[in-house]
Amino acid sequence: MSSSVIGIDDLAMATGGFRIDLADIAERLGADPAKYYRGLGQTEMSVVAEDEDIVTLGAAAALPVVERAGRERIRTLLFATETGIDQSKSAGVYAHRLLGLPPNVRVVELKQACYSATAAMQFAAALVARNPAEKVLVIASDIARYELGSTAEPTQGAGAAAFTVSADPALLALEPAAGVFTEDVMDFWRPNHRVTAIVDGHSSISAYLDAVAGAFDDYRAQGGSAFEAINRFCYHQPFTKMAAKAHQYLAKHAGADVPTETLTAQVAPTMGYNRRIGNSYTASVYLALLALLDDPADLTGERVAIASYGSGAVAEFLTGTVMSGYRAQIRNGTNEQILADRPRIDDNTYLARQRIMPRSDPSNYGNRHETRGPFRFAGVREDQRIYEATAPR
Ligand code: CAA
Repeated sequence: MSSSVIGIDDLAMATGGFRIDLADIAERLGADPAKYYRGLGQTEMSVVAEDEDIVTLGAAAALPVVERAGRERIRTLLFATETGIDQSKSAGVYAHRLLGLPPNVRVVELKQACYSATAAMQFAAALVARNPAEKVLVIASDIARYELGSTAEPTQGAGAAAFTVSADPALLALEPAAGVFTEDVMDFWRPNHRVTAIVDGHSSISAYLDAVAGAFDDYRAQGGSAFEAINRFCYHQPFTKMAAKAHQYLAKHAGADVPTETLTAQVAPTMGYNRRIGNSYTASVYLALLALLDDPADLTGERVAIASYGSGAVAEFLTGTVMSGYRAQIRNGTNEQILADRPRIDDNTYLARQRIMPRSDPSNYGNRHETRGPFRFAGVREDQRIYEATAPR
């Protein structure tokens, strides 16, 4: 048994509980705030509360999706992250319990830098093709951390996206063609002993552009649509200017004759959430899709590209079409409220938070109750992470 229409049925987000305006770190970093606002296309970044991590953010994003889908329909949970909290146990198993999912669910964590949620989506689509009654829950959750004082610091962030893949989806029907591209490059990585990533910033931008172009060429070779036949483009957004750069690069690479204002309109509505959250790694391209779907313009029937990039490097380019009636499934206003609810912190408060990690005794510590989210990371006792549900404050 198989279903011809498979895609994203529901999509929601969560973000770190605090925010810092990038103007507030510019002075310490000796930069003009315009470099961040206009040069990188970023205004703020989310900062996690002491008792938030990838599990609490991911489960918070997934909660409304699971409640709407029905827990009994979900038989697979794929947790995509590059902020792994354990070398063995999947972050998804903690999320599975917090979300109240039944025992008959397969749970696994996937890693390939910022790319792995797209691999998860493709694996999910294959599972749904085998059993169209199943919904697969994908959670993408990350906290981006670079060295304080580095040029990468303003491109940190924290956020999660959660979505279900199902037959007869309410939001986006995935088209069969997908292009992939892999090349072993050292543009960005995080060895096991580090809490911050190592990045070669400018070469990472070239690696991103090459990989996305390589994935697009493969997409075309697999029967995918011409550039001109795609209405909107959701790119991975380590900073939103990167999406604008990638789009111009890809248009030129594809030899497309598209006016500049059209190119802008094809990506601008995807940037609203990432501009304020910062880099959320695996979640970023799905937060771009969410911002697009929340845009007031009616997208029904439009072809939308997802251009996913994960340093190291893997890229995938695929398309889907927006389902009629999708507006009934989006949570108008909720996502804007999530962003508006984050209290603003100053540079000193932010620096103090960043310096909590790594802990002096990583085997035993407690976390203050700060999060406003539905779940909290209470601390570590004898090397076991303690998660609990909490009434929103
Ligand atoms: N007003 C307006 N714009 C200004 C400005 C000012 N006063 N000063 C500088 N700018 C502009 C620059 O012209 C530049 O824009 P263009 O690239 O369009 O020319 C932009 O601001 C950035 O300036 P720099 O290139 O001088 O910035 P930088 O050297 O300080 O670092 C960075 C920028 C390399 C992105 C750095 O922040 C970084 O390393 N970030 C992390 C790595 C990253 O995000 N890489 C992206 C691709 S890899 C990926 O996507 C995977 C992932 O998630 C990490």
